[in-house]
Amino acid sequence: MSDSYLQGLFAERIGGRLYGKTTAVYKFEKIKRAKRAALAAHPDTEILDLGVGEPDEMAFTEVVECLHAEARLPANRGYADNGDAVLKSAAARYLDRVCGVPGINPETEVIHSIGSKAALAILPAALINPGDYVLMTTPGYPVFGTHAHYYGGLVHQMPLTEANGFLPDMEAVPSAALQRAKVLVLNYPNNPTGASASPAFFARVVEFAQRHRLVVIHDAAYAALVFEGAPLSFLATPGAKEVGVELHSTSKSFNMTGWRCGFVAGNELLVRAYGDVKDNTDSGQFLAIQHAAAYCFDHPEITRQIAAKYSRRMDGLVEVLKAAGFQARKPRGSFFLYVRAPRAARDPGGRRLEFATAEAVSQWLITEKLISTVPWDDAGPALRFSVTFLAKDPADERRVLTELGRRLGDVHFEF
Ligand SMILES: Cc1ncc(COP(=O)(O)O)c(C=O)c1O
Repeated sequence: MSDSYLQGLFAERIGGRLYGKTTAVYKFEKIKRAKRAALAAHPDTEILDLGVGEPDEMAFTEVVECLHAEARLPANRGYADNGDAVLKSAAARYLDRVCGVPGINPETEVIHSIGSKAALAILPAALINPGDYVLMTTPGYPVFGTHAHYYGGLVHQMPLTEANGFLPDMEAVPSAALQRAKVLVLNYPNNPTGASASPAFFARVVEFAQRHRLVVIHDAAYAALVFEGAPLSFLATPGAKEVGVELHSTSKSFNMTGWRCGFVAGNELLVRAYGDVKDNTDSGQFLAIQHAAAYCFDHPEITRQIAAKYSRRMDGLVEVLKAAGFQARKPRGSFFLYVRAPRAARDPGGRRLEFATAEAVSQWLITEKLISTVPWDDAGPALRFSVTFLAKDPADERRVLTELGRRLGDVHFEF
């Protein structure tokens, strides 16, 4: 059958006339397919899903009740546009009380987002002209870079490795990219490495941004999920508000992934530019959802409970992976444990299997052991295990982790 004329109308940024014709299968689709195949081959065996990137639990009951009450109010029914004062004020209070960032003006320095992903998709429109460079980290969450490409921008990837403590070496950016760079995108605690930043690193970021006239976008989607101490906000760094904004989200910190609500805060001019593009992109998140999110930002003890659960699970996971030979170290936050992938595995029958990539390890784990992980080969082969696996209580968590240990126990991994 010949192509419809529609085939010739797609924009080059999504493949032009070849749109939809590629046979390449992307990583997350491969994982899904492998999971389906493993389940079909072993219908009676539980898949241990440590590949999930979102909370295993619902939002807390009081938050659902808050949403219910707010959804009944006629005043909340219409377009929210860039939001009313409720979430903005709660965000400013949250930054002050929880993140140690006083003095954020809720009227001019905060606007809600329909999740951080939406904010990362909107901000490039405000900043990127054709030929502009964005400095990003790899492995990482790619959304800002994808949209920067859509506007004709270019991405320079800074590798995150064990050797650099998963903090990018900004001074290693080649001068050709640096001269045309406009934006530096960071994310700590980091997906997928689980690494945390430090005040000293953020101070270097501010200095680097000022020296090279860069905007800093700090994606703080996991900022509140820390296992000890207080969350570290980029905005707490002296000078940060002069160079950037920070993105917070209720998705992970309050188990509200599907609710789609967060906020962008920081530099007034950048927040205004975000708001101007946002106003031409969406009509705002439902006010009832924004108000329930505001309730959360005034109740950080919810996040502390969630983080305590992840911390407990992380302790168990580290133990199990270490016993299997992995070099696992508990991160200071997030729900991700990122470990170097093995080069080979020897099974009880003495058969030795070599792995060329982390993706090959991940496929083997799901096919042979029904253990789902996310592989990363971007800066050396690594596997991401997430502690958001399904388990209904601490006893169930222990059962899942014991089973994980049992399945890995008869394999000898080589690193
Ligand atoms: C680093 C990072 N940023 C942003 C997001 C998206 O967050 P939200 O649900 O607020 O859009 C994710 C979700 O996986 C993430 O890992």
